Amino acid sequence: MSHRLARLQTALRRAHLDAVALNPGPSLSYLTGLHFHLMERPVVALLSAQGETALVLPELEAPKVADRPNIRPFFYGEDPARWGDAFRRAVEALGLARARIGVEPTRLRVLELRFLEAAAPEAVFPSAAEAIAALRMTKDAEEIAAMEQAVRIAQDALTAALAAFRMGMTEREFAAELVLQLLRHGSEPELPFQPIVAAGPNSANPHAVPTDRPISRGDLLIVDWGATWQGYFSDLTRTFAVGAVEPELARIAEIAAQANAAGREAARPGIPAGEVDRAARNVIAAAGYGDFFTHRTGHGLGLDVHERPFIFAGNETVLRPGMTFTVEPGIYLPGRGGVRVEDDVVITADGARSLSTLPRHLARLG
Ligand code: CO
Repeated sequence: MSHRLARLQTALRRAHLDAVALNPGPSLSYLTGLHFHLMERPVVALLSAQGETALVLPELEAPKVADRPNIRPFFYGEDPARWGDAFRRAVEALGLARARIGVEPTRLRVLELRFLEAAAPEAVFPSAAEAIAALRMTKDAEEIAAMEQAVRIAQDALTAALAAFRMGMTEREFAAELVLQLLRHGSEPELPFQPIVAAGPNSANPHAVPTDRPISRGDLLIVDWGATWQGYFSDLTRTFAVGAVEPELARIAEIAAQANAAGREAARPGIPAGEVDRAARNVIAAAGYGDFFTHRTGHGLGLDVHERPFIFAGNETVLRPGMTFTVEPGIYLPGRGGVRVEDDVVITADGARSLSTLPRHLARLG
């Protein structure tokens, strides 16, 4: 943690920020090791470029900071009229009345921002998204080990769920079985997202939700799922043929697997993230299905399911060892079916390593 806080101080100074204000979520956990649920009562940490941390929180949360001498707590009680006082005292203690206080625009709520603005009316609140993302983007060995465990749990859970597959079970029934197996295999209960189980025409929708439609012979079946371990996520996708499928559907599955391989092979340190997208996209375009690959090739993965680096055409972010992201090309034929093959990879000293190892070719169910 102290190493991370030291990196934060450097990042804040470089971004001309005096502090950052964080509410419960991945960045707060990453920098302080503290976990809070996002509720109706505000919890806000102020981390200054001088290395001081103030935390505004309800009195009932006191045990969480009892053994944290480097965190200065500012408690408030049940009367909302007094909550503003705690914010004022925290701002004063860190000398932030006229400061540039960075915020995470996708995380901090109007609730917290209003308290901060009232406590420091002369301060400004620019986005610190870039500065914080840069810290979290490169994972250390411990983080990668946690992600690897999240991948292992997800893979074992899918294998167990497939053993329970019966022809004619609905998408929802299979999704329920998969969630059960994720928990049985040790996933933390806050899954990265509800699994996507999409068969037949539904599989042509990249963000389908499971329905009561029975999974039937001739369908392509897309399963997009993940597990959580120590707050870190996995995010995988495999596609199956339910019985025999039309030749063209089998063909697009093969092309997607080749595009996935091309993306993983292209990934290495020193190249822009956009190159990975290009490598995967070229395979699909060369096969004549470019118009049917309708999304970016991947996204960073870690304490958030979608974080930097994003793998899209033209992204100049240079890949570095320790960056983790998905490679998930897909082909979607409206009304007929879709395929996607998604792996989680980490950039190594001289290439990329896939954390996921399940077979990528089109396997047949039933
Ligand atoms: Co994904």
